[in-house]
Amino acid sequence: MRPITQEDPYKLVFVCLGNICRSPTAEGIFIHKVKEKGYENYFYIDSAGTAAYHVGESANSKSQATANKYGIHLPSKARKFEYADLEEFDLILAMDSDNYRNILDLDTKGQYEHKVKMMREFDPHPDMKDVPDPYYGGMDGFENVFKVLERSSEQLLNELIEYIED
Ligand code: 4NP
Repeated sequence: MRPITQEDPYKLVFVCLGNICRSPTAEGIFIHKVKEKGYENYFYIDSAGTAAYHVGESANSKSQATANKYGIHLPSKARKFEYADLEEFDLILAMDSDNYRNILDLDTKGQYEHKVKMMREFDPHPDMKDVPDPYYGGMDGFENVFKVLERSSEQLLNELIEYIED
């Protein structure tokens, strides 16, 4: 793990399938937490999807409604995760094991596995390995995704803050 400085901000990208539900929620929560703690100059935060179905779209309306209820804005416009992101980012956070595999499938030379982690590795109360896909379900699924991502983001940020150097 390298030192995190304002001159060389730590770059994270949250990745799901469509980049309209889970990863934009993780991105919005993480941006909010970083600002709340006054570390916005130390991080570059993005999200992407392994599929291109929704490229250019804002976050799903149920994801936005859930996040807004907790005072969090989701700024994302969907884009597809691409090979260059493996090089570009310090940490790539997969929402589920399919996303994880699809990300590593792009790593044809096997250089970047150390950068790719499952988001729920950072969940202090993991009841499963994946952040479940809420897309085809009701509001309760979006609420659950928000709560999982809220506590996982908190732990992730607390771990990263240890490496900040001013
Ligand atoms: P996300 O959810 O991966 O959390 O953005 C989904 C969004 C769209 C689809 C599937 C999951 N879809 O099949 O279009």
